[in-house]
Amino acid sequence: MKSIVILISGRGSNMEAIVQAAIPGARIAAVISNRPNAGGLAFAAAQGIATAVVDHTAYADRAAFDAALAAVINRHAPDLVVLAGFMRVLTPDFVRQYEGRLINIHPSLLPSFTGLHTHQRALEAGVRVHGTTVHFVTAELDCGPIIIQAVVPVMAGDDEAALSARVLAQEHRIFPQAVRWIVEDRVSIDGSVARVAGVREPGVLISPPPEDV
Ligand code: GRF
Repeated sequence: MKSIVILISGRGSNMEAIVQAAIPGARIAAVISNRPNAGGLAFAAAQGIATAVVDHTAYADRAAFDAALAAVINRHAPDLVVLAGFMRVLTPDFVRQYEGRLINIHPSLLPSFTGLHTHQRALEAGVRVHGTTVHFVTAELDCGPIIIQAVVPVMAGDDEAALSARVLAQEHRIFPQAVRWIVEDRVSIDGSVARVAGVREPGVLISPPPEDV
């Protein structure tokens, strides 16, 4: 049984999708938030999952926060640490500690649109397709070997809310899929590339193409 710790900062809908996938061989050991009022904590507690808050505002600097966070994570001896809408930049020391077992979901087709406000920036750039990426975390923000991506069309008349909702629906599909592959020991890291054993099209899902209007 693989032990998984999920870190959240807010709503926690991706965490929920992973919990609800009930992945064989995986146990969600804990859900940890850096914000005491994160909506997702209530869902996790109602599922009987251990929850904890490590409030970043209580720490003098990133290093002190990351050390406190790691101490709470390590109580659960996780095989995998999942950043599911965890909105803090982590120090290289923290990242190194979990090398190869720390994954994140980012709401864009990396390496495009790293950072914040990805949907608005995609609209402003006029891209025709957008999407989401699950990747291993490395010291550089929103980089690291890509495990799976989902592509969605950008449609005429989209605003940030419409586009982000379309992307989020795909996040809820690909994140549990990535966790499942890792739990099944099918994902390996080859330099800057992640490989998934036994998948012919390794992790690109394309949602149905838009129809003519
Ligand atoms: C998601 O869009 C995720 O890609 C981004 O933050 C959002 C978190 O949503 N990193 P939720 O808390 O999982 O509902």
